[in-house]
Amino acid sequence: MLLFYLIVELSIVPVTVVVGSQWGDEGKGKIVDSLASKSSMVVRFQGGANAGHTVYRGEKVYKFHLLPCSVLHKGVKSIIARGVALDLELLLEEIKQIENDNLDIDLVISPQAFLVLPFHRWMDKLEELRRGQEKLGTTYRGIGPASTDRIARRGIRLGHLFEDNLLDRIKTLVGRVNAVLDGVYSDVTKRKINPQRLYEDLIKQRELIRKYVGDTHNLIHTAIENKEEVLMEGAQGSMLDLGFGTYPYVTSSHTISGSACVNAGLGPSQISQVLGIAKAYVTRVGAGPFPTKMNDEWNKKVQDKGKEFGATTGRPRDCGWLDIPLLRYAHRLNGFTGVILTKADILGGMGDIKVCTSWNWNGSEYKDVPEDSRVWDEGVPQYVTLEGWPDFSGIQKWNNLPEGLRKYCDFVESSSGVKILAVSTGPGIDDIAWKE
Ligand code: IMP
Repeated sequence: MLLFYLIVELSIVPVTVVVGSQWGDEGKGKIVDSLASKSSMVVRFQGGANAGHTVYRGEKVYKFHLLPCSVLHKGVKSIIARGVALDLELLLEEIKQIENDNLDIDLVISPQAFLVLPFHRWMDKLEELRRGQEKLGTTYRGIGPASTDRIARRGIRLGHLFEDNLLDRIKTLVGRVNAVLDGVYSDVTKRKINPQRLYEDLIKQRELIRKYVGDTHNLIHTAIENKEEVLMEGAQGSMLDLGFGTYPYVTSSHTISGSACVNAGLGPSQISQVLGIAKAYVTRVGAGPFPTKMNDEWNKKVQDKGKEFGATTGRPRDCGWLDIPLLRYAHRLNGFTGVILTKADILGGMGDIKVCTSWNWNGSEYKDVPEDSRVWDEGVPQYVTLEGWPDFSGIQKWNNLPEGLRKYCDFVESSSGVKILAVSTGPGIDDIAWKE
């Protein structure tokens, strides 16, 4: 009955935003994939090829970095909105992956999306080299340097590829890049960027991408006005948000729900539902504070069973216990109307589970995340231990979930204030138990 209610609820609201509540890799792709068939369009609104979704179709495994998961759903339009950092080389490879399987793509890309150019990827690496021990652990996908050019208002947008002054624009941008290479990186490289070659490569890519470029803004708003269901797919997670995450160990975009507004061009009142995706534990790749990191034995166990290796870089993800102060913080930042807990099956059969309920720092207890970042860096997590649950997989009814897991969900709800709508119980698109 309640499943029916939830489906009805999801189907009468026009805009749903799906965002990660932790450091990314919460399993947003699987949830978007399972909700996509009920939507008329799925909009990717921020991030770039630093993100990675793994989508399972029987034996077939697809890895997407830029394409929304909806590309595998017939009759669902996929949109890449203007806030996305667009790496055309990688996007064209992803499109080919789908075309090789003889699937049609109903994809529209905003001409205002900004380009990640090959030298941005290279400069990402140079920057990390320069940081040495202090490196951020980026994905080397050029996100920081490309976003810097965007914000400094010298970046190249997809639509610029179709304008007459493209070569001049590239020369101006590259002139500056070469001056930076000369001034800042001359000790590590003598290489320079050739604007003419970049121009010629971009012209080739332009012809391959041309048919996908369109007016996403009016498509999105027409769909909203027609009361169609629009799903907005976030990338990364709230703790990687440029402003509210573990700065500077964050990505270069806003990853919280409000980002859907500024990056796809909506007002907050047009969003009806914000779904937060939270793993039953937490993971993190790259550098930066990670208060609830598990000890080595647990870390290894969860990493192996949960296949916790980056979809973009293959790096092992560190695993930690669920952090209630961070979940409550994410709830406040995003205004979750509901949360879906993922990978609860991974903790099954592992014994008792720890949950962090507050942090201690300098003699004070913090249940809410403060703005003072020293507390993030040095706070000592305070844990409670809860009964675990047996190994299981693929359960689709809430009442069939192990009792220990249902109690865990009750505890998470009462301590963090979020409302858990469902638990994802395996990698398959139907492996999800909605709460009754
Ligand atoms: P960048 O986004 O490549 O600049 O990387 C900045 C930080 O964000 C690094 O710690 C990355 O590991 C992390 N990061 C970026 N995208 C993702 C993601 O999709 N999942 C998890 N971590 C990510």
